[in-house]
Amino acid sequence: MGRLSAALLGATGIAGQQFLPFLAGHPYFELKVLSASARSAGKLYIDAVKWYQEYYIPNEFVNMPVISMEEALEKADFDILFCALPSEIAAEWEPKFAEKGVTVFSDAGCFRKEKDVPVMIPEVNYDHINLLTAQRKNRNWKGGIVKNPNCTTVAAAMALAPLKKYGIKRVFLSSMQAVSGAGYDGVPSMAITDNVIPYISGEEEKVEFENLKILGDLDEAEGEVKLLPAVFSASCHRVHTLYGHIEALFIEFEKEVDIDDVKNSIRNFTSKPQQLGLPTAPKVPVILTDDPFRPQVRLDRNAGEPERCKGMSATVGRVRYDHDEKNRIKLITLAHNSIRGAAGNLVLTAELAKAEGLI
Ligand SMILES: NC(=O)c1ccc[n+]([C@@H]2O[C@H](COP(=O)([O-])OP(=O)(O)OC[C@H]3O[C@@H](n4cnc5c(N)ncnc54)[C@H](OP(=O)(O)O)[C@@H]3O)[C@@H](O)[C@H]2O)c1
Repeated sequence: MGRLSAALLGATGIAGQQFLPFLAGHPYFELKVLSASARSAGKLYIDAVKWYQEYYIPNEFVNMPVISMEEALEKADFDILFCALPSEIAAEWEPKFAEKGVTVFSDAGCFRKEKDVPVMIPEVNYDHINLLTAQRKNRNWKGGIVKNPNCTTVAAAMALAPLKKYGIKRVFLSSMQAVSGAGYDGVPSMAITDNVIPYISGEEEKVEFENLKILGDLDEAEGEVKLLPAVFSASCHRVHTLYGHIEALFIEFEKEVDIDDVKNSIRNFTSKPQQLGLPTAPKVPVILTDDPFRPQVRLDRNAGEPERCKGMSATVGRVRYDHDEKNRIKLITLAHNSIRGAAGNLVLTAELAKAEGLI
């Protein structure tokens, strides 16, 4: 069977450029269109992009022309779209593509709160992808909109997914977030060098809501997700690292838990993307470490096997009781913000949609 054709909006940005290694030679998708702002449109990709990855631009994209969004919309001659635009721009453009029959897989924050819009981490809530069917019906679209969570949500939700079965009552989260999470022009070096900034606008609200949505249960009859009935409280901070968001979680359960059982649940966690053998599914989605000095941002942010899944595994460590309270634990979780938190996770989501016959 032929590959589905794909476009990428925001192709030159921090999140956008990290789609390229995931889509080069992809078995399901052929990336045919690169688009960015008027600043970049009309240039070749290599001339438009400020490339800041440790690897080179995959050959097939180096000399691809970058087109404007107007041109991309006018043609709309592709099946799916990956969107890595700033949220306010995405909010205007994504519905236009969905109306034209394109299914949009998006990193941007807009629409995540809408009831019929799935916010996906395929290992955590694979069944939520079926919200697309309700969305298409509600909006009379042949296409649709599927969302990635905020990058800070991802590290938490991946650590919490294996623990949902114990009955999560309350979660406190304290994040240490890399500068790349704010985009290339996001945090000036004068502001962050030798510093920690204790506020990221809008971040805590997103992390609190999205975790409850992703960990909630799909009600297919109602065409919505019932939020996890738990209290989630986040404090988000920007630190002087480049990639990888690391977070301390304090979790209270309905009942007492056995700490070894909790560790085994994390260690053995696997899910539908692994069962389906999706190309971007890491062998082990959540790696548990018993080393008290891990996870570390620099050492563990690129975790994931095989090679194409580097950065797709979250790493969880320091799993312990909170004092002697057997219904409370503490842990540290780390995920790569622009791979598992953006490009890689979204490509995996599109692979799931394809495997489920939704695109
Ligand atoms: N960075 C991360 O770790 C991360 C993680 C998860 C989600 N996200 C989300 O991904 C999106 C992009 O973030 P980023 O960090 O990649 O930002 P970024 O580095 O600033 O890149 C923004 C991209 O959008 C394009 N763009 C900006 N204004 C535009 C306009 N008016 N019309 C068309 N294109 C426009 C830029 O094109 P030009 O180069 O031509 O200006 C560039 O390709 C955001 O919604 C962000 O929240 C980012």
